[in-house]
Amino acid sequence: MKVTVSLIKADVGSLPGHHRVYKDQLELAKKKLHEAKETGLLIDYHVFNAGDDLELLMTHTKGVNNPEIHKLAWDTFTEVTEKVSKALKLYGAGQDLLVEAFSGNVRGMGPGVAEMEFEERKSEPLLVFAADKTEPGAWNLPLFRIFADPFNTAGLTIDPTMHDGFDFVVHDVMEGKEVMVHCPAEMYDLLALIGTVSRYVISRVYRHRDGEIAAAASVTRLSLIAGRYVGKDDPVLIVRAQHGFPAVGEILEAFSFPYLVPGWMRGSHNGPLMPVPLKYSQCTRFDGPPRVVGLGFQLCNGRLIGPVDLFDDPAFDTVRIKAAEIAEYMRRHGPFMPHRLGPEEMEYTTLPAVLEKLKDRFKEA
Ligand code: F6R
Ligand code: MG
Ligand code: MG
Repeated sequence: MKVTVSLIKADVGSLPGHHRVYKDQLELAKKKLHEAKETGLLIDYHVFNAGDDLELLMTHTKGVNNPEIHKLAWDTFTEVTEKVSKALKLYGAGQDLLVEAFSGNVRGMGPGVAEMEFEERKSEPLLVFAADKTEPGAWNLPLFRIFADPFNTAGLTIDPTMHDGFDFVVHDVMEGKEVMVHCPAEMYDLLALIGTVSRYVISRVYRHRDGEIAAAASVTRLSLIAGRYVGKDDPVLIVRAQHGFPAVGEILEAFSFPYLVPGWMRGSHNGPLMPVPLKYSQCTRFDGPPRVVGLGFQLCNGRLIGPVDLFDDPAFDTVRIKAAEIAEYMRRHGPFMPHRLGPEEMEYTTLPAVLEKLKDRFKEA
């Protein structure tokens, strides 16, 4: 059976400030998706939050980029905005809904989308990840480690079905182009691109030997769509696991190092990505540090069996402590780079105004 998994998210308001989705928003979103399940449009759904982002995980048989599914997500976000966020004066009500009317596909309209369609295997373990206070390039490092680094994923060397490697589709967010790069053959080319996380973003990964989809991520950046700052596009990711794909533990292993990502306060600072259980899915210190949640399911004819809250485990306690230590270290830099992002990457800046004010006082040195 061919099943499509769609993970569509938007920040449609939160409390207090940009911290957390409110329970009434989650309830209304669940109600909307439940109705869609009753009509047969969805096979199943799961609603959750990553900090201030409302996450709609849906399964169906309509394929990717389907107008009915995207409209359902759009209508859910707008209804939550009107009936809860605005009614309760939550902060940033509807902030990611950038256009007035839906035109067939939520891509480019504000919400983030990760989708994949595949033939459901005899047993289909599926993991989804959602991060807050960062951007889509945040998945580059873990996706590389999961699908290309044998020091992370033992299966790359010892599982014959993974031994031919994986193909990475890299999206250039500035040009709106993409390129497919094979790993391990073109590993250095891949790394040369994806080290620039603000521009080259892994959007999909396929198993090389048979072209099976292995992972799909959201790639849009709100700042570029809107031409003005409306918040970093907090990213989502879907990964298939086991039996010819990396094991669940190999996928989670990639999050055992709290690497630095751009985002955090005002979308303008580097900070460590902290893997957290859902109960800690709220950014606090300096609107952070940036966080990631992970949920694990088994698919059963499209039904979502689960979830397991994957980072709700003492094995990740030391990662969180390390992330908190790195957060402290970075914070001590205050307004200085590399804590603060470079001028071209900052989502907020007074630099042009400062330069304008001082322009007549700049003298030849
Ligand atoms: C970052 C983020 C927050 C806000 C910050 C200021 O993605 O959402 O860090 O940038 O709280 O928000 P405003 O300008 O709404 O007061
Ligand atoms: Mg917000
Ligand atoms: Mg957010």
